[in-house]
Amino acid sequence: MTANNIQQRPDKEQPSSLSFDSQAVHAGNMVDVTTGAIRTPIVMSNSYRLPDDPSSLDWSDTQTLFYTRCSGHNQLCLERKLAAMEHGEAAAAFCTGVAALHAIFFTFLKSGDHVVVSDVTYEAVWRLFSELLPQRYGIDATFVDISDLAAVRAAMRPNTKLIHAETIANPTTKVADVRALAGIARDGGAMLSIDATFTPPPMFRGLEHGADLVVHALTKYINGHGDAMGGAVIGRADLIHRLKADALVDVGGSLSPFNAWLIMRGSVTLPLRLPRQLSTAQKIAEFLEEDSRVAFVTFPGLPSHPQHELSSRQFAGMGHGAVMAFAVRGDPDAQNRFVANLRLITSAVSLGHDETLIVHVGRDGRGGAECYPSEFREYGHLRLSIGLEDPADLVADIRAALDETFTR
Ligand SMILES: Cc1ncc(COP(=O)(O)O)c(C=O)c1O
Repeated sequence: MTANNIQQRPDKEQPSSLSFDSQAVHAGNMVDVTTGAIRTPIVMSNSYRLPDDPSSLDWSDTQTLFYTRCSGHNQLCLERKLAAMEHGEAAAAFCTGVAALHAIFFTFLKSGDHVVVSDVTYEAVWRLFSELLPQRYGIDATFVDISDLAAVRAAMRPNTKLIHAETIANPTTKVADVRALAGIARDGGAMLSIDATFTPPPMFRGLEHGADLVVHALTKYINGHGDAMGGAVIGRADLIHRLKADALVDVGGSLSPFNAWLIMRGSVTLPLRLPRQLSTAQKIAEFLEEDSRVAFVTFPGLPSHPQHELSSRQFAGMGHGAVMAFAVRGDPDAQNRFVANLRLITSAVSLGHDETLIVHVGRDGRGGAECYPSEFREYGHLRLSIGLEDPADLVADIRAALDETFTR
């Protein structure tokens, strides 16, 4: 980084030797030597002063500070932190999680290539691979049940360049066996990209399980406060370099310095927030499963979940995420009434925030819903993302809403 007035404090320990909790505080943070500010200041300037002779400047370089679409001081600090937290060589930050996902597909796929995609993914990925990329760019995709490793292997073709899955799929909570998928990708000469938005570090580090690229919607747990959008891809330095050169410099979905700063600040408390959210989610899922007015609940922490054992092993006993899907008995109107009866839990999209959020997704309200388990198709589903409230208050809110819904 060639900013000449903002430097890493020389007396600070190198982030790689620190524990995760200490990295969350210190990695990527720089002291401003002109003011002495101990937290990296926000640099909103969209341009940086050029050298006296700029003729030899590489205009697609994403490490030199000269134009904020290509690199900015706050984005570089955040990227450094994310790489440290994921144990990766490098990271690229984008304006949203979807921009980060698209950057992978745009950079590493071309016309004639084939992709194996989990049949349950975040909706934008479903649409990219079911419509936009095949129809407009000739990139072919096969959607597979990623928990059926024989089916994944069978879907591989000589031109398969990528396998893509989510560690815990949004919204069905299907769990991907990342190490096994990495083996299949490697055998087929393909890359593996893993969307780990539901399982941020230290709960899981996809690169250590063999993934080539790990994606996060920073909008969710890593920022954690519901007040900034962002996305990132982490991986080997040469892959991240290509990704930035193609998808940042020439497509331009860059993260704003302000959002980079907010996410940098939000991520400081990730080691404190995450265990609380994981343990509350477990309690709420168990509570829901016990109540006969609840038609189904899907959460990897329940022994009834098809990949409960894999989830316990893969996430090293830290937990099973903090998002679950469920429905109350009844039609879509009953789901709406239940949500309307909640007083503490907010009805809103998104997840991984400090506050608990619920969204009612209708029976066929999303692309790819035909691949969801039968109970999702029968009842629709409520996606619940657990926040930082007292678990007893959340249980009380859900219980009262169930009582109100079923006594009218
Ligand atoms: C698993 C997953 N990946 C990616 C995204 C997209 O993130 P963003 O909304 O920041 O584009 C989401 C959003 O909910 C998500 O749940």
